[in-house]
Amino acid sequence: MNIILLGPPGAGKGTQSKFLEERLGMIQLSTGDMLRGHVAAGDAIGQKAKALMDQGKLVPDEVLIDMISERIRQPDCANGFILDGFPRTEPQAEALEKMLAANGMALDAVIRLKVDPQALVERISGRFSCGACGASYHDKFNQPKKPDTCDYCGKTGSFKRRSDDTADKVQTRLEAYEQQTLPIIPFYEARSLLKEVDGMAEMDVVRDQILAILGQKQGGVAEGRRFLSV
Ligand code: AP5
Repeated sequence: MNIILLGPPGAGKGTQSKFLEERLGMIQLSTGDMLRGHVAAGDAIGQKAKALMDQGKLVPDEVLIDMISERIRQPDCANGFILDGFPRTEPQAEALEKMLAANGMALDAVIRLKVDPQALVERISGRFSCGACGASYHDKFNQPKKPDTCDYCGKTGSFKRRSDDTADKVQTRLEAYEQQTLPIIPFYEARSLLKEVDGMAEMDVVRDQILAILGQKQGGVAEGRRFLSV
């Protein structure tokens, strides 16, 4: 199965992708993670992307299209993939359709997580993660048991926050979503691929809604929630 998880920043795309990876053996293709990898490596893509990401703006379509076109041809995509953060514009949606067809692939569903904007700001501005293992925490909803120590890998002093997770950048990211990403919804409605879930529900409930859409047994994989993008 190949699916897109579509939703604004903080909607829970990364969280649910990790559930699905563990449960269904699909692979998460997070363009945000890929770009952060390039930024960390300081390579040409990273240099192009860094300033835009820091401002909460989208990186140019051609960079993302090349990246995904290359990625979906890797052998680990054969069991199915979850696109998390791609496509985000109409040109990206059109390019994806063409590249899937060229590789004999297709989409099974485009799952939209619907979340209130106010909840998004709160979710994102409180988020932090362990730089060593990727475990995810939240200032209010999910604090580590011991301050500054990861519950899962035990490492101390490794917590970090994304540079675009501040309230003002979240606002810019939400605007980008509304102006550039929401217009792709009719594209997928027209292809009868769009499904909607209530992203305001508890994480397990969101997971079960997605599993139901995918025709899978609900429940299980309670540990998946701890992981997020590193
Ligand atoms: P990216 O990394 O894709 O960020 P994003 O879309 O802004 O999404 P997030 O990772 O912030 O949120 P999420 O939906 O994964 O939520 P999460 O599960 O973490 O992109 C970053 C940047 O890269 C972009 O701004 C852009 O510059 C660039 N970029 C990437 N792709 C691009 C593209 N295709 N084109 C152009 N530019 C691109 O959850 C958030 C928090 O909420 C967590 O703390 C979690 O624990 C909590 N949470 C999750 N679900 C629930 C729930 N149901 N109830 C309560 N809390 C919950």
